[in-house]
Amino acid sequence: MTRIVILASGSGSNAENIIKYFKNSNLISVDYILCNKKDAKVFERAKRLKVNSLYFDREMLNNSDFVLNFLKMNADYIILAGFLWKVPSKIIEAFPNKIINIHPALLPKYGGKGMYGMHVHNAVVSNKEMETGITIHYVNDNYDEGAIIFQESFNVVSSYSAEDVAERIHTLEYKHFPKIIEKVILEH
Ligand code: GAR
Repeated sequence: MTRIVILASGSGSNAENIIKYFKNSNLISVDYILCNKKDAKVFERAKRLKVNSLYFDREMLNNSDFVLNFLKMNADYIILAGFLWKVPSKIIEAFPNKIINIHPALLPKYGGKGMYGMHVHNAVVSNKEMETGITIHYVNDNYDEGAIIFQESFNVVSSYSAEDVAERIHTLEYKHFPKIIEKVILEH
């Protein structure tokens, strides 16, 4: 069994979708959700879906080796699903090409620090972009710069609000993220 640990920071709708996708898999299991925000909705989802969850703070991630050691013991792959902190180098080095992120834009556009969630969609709409989409990529030491695994785009109609873009992005994320994770794991 290939073990996935998901890192999330907020709502966790992608985390839920991934958990449901692999629920009956004999090859891949989602064993834990780790989250850096105490009141994040993802904890409720984890409870409802009967997946173990764990809160961690910056100290546990960066200064002590708590998160690193936890991942070494429990994860073959780390999936970032709306995780908003930088993954420290020690974790990236311990999991080469085993950490996968989803970003709600067509990287390298609208990537980097501060570019997450609605900030991305607001920028896309106010810049009158003709298209946007999703990027699934490996995580390296620079925010949103790791090798791209998959992208899919759609046209941004001029009447779209940032909320409309967010909705379309989420639909694409739910459709592709679990399948791409599965493909990467099974092809390794
Ligand atoms: C997702 O749209 C994901 O692409 C984005 O946060 C959202 C999380 O939603 N990630 C980033 O912006 C990372 N830079 P969710 O918590 O409902 O899955």
